[in-house]
Amino acid sequence: MHLPEAIPKAELHLHIEGTLEPELAFALAARNGVELPYADTEELRRAYLFSDLQSFLDLYYELMAVLHTADDFADLADAYLARAAAQGVRHAEIFFDPQAHTARGVPIGTVIEGLGRALDRSEERHGVSTQLIMCFLRDRSAESAMETLNAAEPYLHRIAGVGLDSAEVGHPPSKFAEVYAAAGALGLRKVAHAGEEGPPAYIREALDVLGVERIDHGLRAMEDPELVERLVRERVPLTLCPLSNVRLRAIDVLEDHPLKAMMEAGLLVTVNSDDPAYFGGYVGDTFHAVHEALGLDPEQLRELARNSFLASFLDHDEERRAR
Ligand code: HPA
Ligand code: ZN
Repeated sequence: MHLPEAIPKAELHLHIEGTLEPELAFALAARNGVELPYADTEELRRAYLFSDLQSFLDLYYELMAVLHTADDFADLADAYLARAAAQGVRHAEIFFDPQAHTARGVPIGTVIEGLGRALDRSEERHGVSTQLIMCFLRDRSAESAMETLNAAEPYLHRIAGVGLDSAEVGHPPSKFAEVYAAAGALGLRKVAHAGEEGPPAYIREALDVLGVERIDHGLRAMEDPELVERLVRERVPLTLCPLSNVRLRAIDVLEDHPLKAMMEAGLLVTVNSDDPAYFGGYVGDTFHAVHEALGLDPEQLRELARNSFLASFLDHDEERRAR
């Protein structure tokens, strides 16, 4: 059998800003004259002790201060694609958070042009096909999400779909019904984070009110057997991120992760890295970790890899070529 790291796979839940490694953060800080409140990479790494999603998001947004130019975004994405390729990734559907940058005065065009530059050369340079998913920050207003969609209009040829991320509890999917309807009318695909820290009801809302085709995380579906039955029946993919769940304290230890139970319940689950610079591993490392901690057998690892292509935005022919 291939090593779990080496199995060809797609990554469907990856925040490009969450791939900012401490070394690159310091290099970009120096390049842009930004002062970071950490003496060095070691001190920064020691800050990666999170108690929940919000404690992570605080650092995640803070560190983005080093990202300014299109070159910065291109370097960030290129570094991710190189690491992903080395871990068997053949296709990546990549989230980005425009509002986290426009709020700091970085134009959305700078972000998309920089990321686009790296993505355009990814197949040739890394053998990884890519798509971009623009996420709305759910702890900001619905109006701000709509302004973001409008600001992205000149760049829609570069964007495959929209997503919803950031602090979940208290910000249900229904808050974004209007902007998702507008995104759908523009022909964009739709996904949303739901059931990471929020209740199963948010997963239902994402499906019924936003009309998403995939649920990002969906971990808390397991509290609701009727919902599980529906997700199985409707073949709704869940993009799980086991290392993230442990680091953000949704799960105590990886050995307790319900991934295997979710597969055995018939759910279409995939395994992803979420914010690999912060959570201790890229997607190949994640395959390796769940193999070790949960005793997944080779066939189950192949099933996860197969699911990653099935749940992707690739059409059938593209998907076969990518595997
Ligand atoms: N959850 C919600 N929002 C995020 C995450 C996450 O794990 N990573 C980056 N934004
Ligand atoms: Zn995420």
